[in-house]
Amino acid sequence: MLCGRTNVNKFLIEEQRRNPALAGDFSMLISDVVRSCKAIAQGVSRGSLAGVLGDHGSENVQGEAQKKLDVLANQAFIHHCEWGGHLAAMASEEMDDIYPIPPENPRGKYLLVFDPLDGSSNIDVNLSVGSIFSVLRCPENGSAGTPTAADFLQPGSRQVAAGYALYGPSAMLVLTVGNGTHGFTLDRNIGEFLLTHPNLVIAADTHEFAINASNERFWEKPVQRYVAECLAGKTGVREKDFNMRWVASMVAEVHRILMRGGVFLYPRDSKDTAKPGRLRLMYEANPMAMIVGQAGGLASTGNERILDVQPTSLHQRVPVILGSRDEVERIERYHREHETGEDQPFRSPLFSTRTLFRDD
Ligand code: F6P
Repeated sequence: MLCGRTNVNKFLIEEQRRNPALAGDFSMLISDVVRSCKAIAQGVSRGSLAGVLGDHGSENVQGEAQKKLDVLANQAFIHHCEWGGHLAAMASEEMDDIYPIPPENPRGKYLLVFDPLDGSSNIDVNLSVGSIFSVLRCPENGSAGTPTAADFLQPGSRQVAAGYALYGPSAMLVLTVGNGTHGFTLDRNIGEFLLTHPNLVIAADTHEFAINASNERFWEKPVQRYVAECLAGKTGVREKDFNMRWVASMVAEVHRILMRGGVFLYPRDSKDTAKPGRLRLMYEANPMAMIVGQAGGLASTGNERILDVQPTSLHQRVPVILGSRDEVERIERYHREHETGEDQPFRSPLFSTRTLFRDD
């Protein structure tokens, strides 16, 4: 029964009463996004029965092979969000260029950025995947004329809303409109996301970290130091044992952190020097940084807060370190100490290159 439960619409109406700037267009836009997520949840849950698994036979702008569901999820966002009159344009991981709202539809004042199906290597093996989205205001000139990619290049601190849908054992929507982070669970009987996890809070401290450890030799030094200390557990400087997790789906990883704390790292690495990180700033890092920040956590590149990064291109990649505040601050400190040389192991002057006792 819906009685007594808050669905996303009721939640948004209550938020509008608190903040009139969110009225009208904005909540209708979020409703359209929620409809896209419900449609994708349905496709994901039917899997092979719906014939949606497997490769699509195409590549996205990043040169990654697209799955059928990547393409279908992208179409679902466009289909549900292009006609409502709330958007000026959309941008997606799966599209090379921005998607201005077609002239036959009214144009609105917002921009929608999304990763329609994140963690898509998990699709064919029936593990958790998700959709991530971010809402920005379209600069004045953009909504008057034809929006351009430059209109999207706003730092994450300017996001009006961000969220993700997790397609896991149950489907969940996690949403922030700048007043806390809130979780809704899809009740498939009535087709509604119902508020089940209001005001999520990430514990400041943790003993769980998530990283793709196969990249260890490529990581930057401060990250190698952090993970080595976690692995040393009780016998090392941290004096406590740590647990490690890696789902290879950022949505699932962030969701676990919102539920029980932890830190997630996809740091800068030297595997491919052309890429300063794996994750995309506009449709992965920024929305997750807002969600985590609104739950009391932090998100950083190691050197700079994610929400302060000035984007230079639509598909830009960044290093991402996010989750429990104390851990993210510690990793930021390790970056600073590395830059000033404070993290160098002690070397006795007796054995330096200028002494009688050379040790090299
Ligand atoms: O493209 C993003 C993504 O799929 C994230 O969801 C996930 O955290 C990461 O890539 C997985 O990377 P890897 O394949 O290196 O484990």
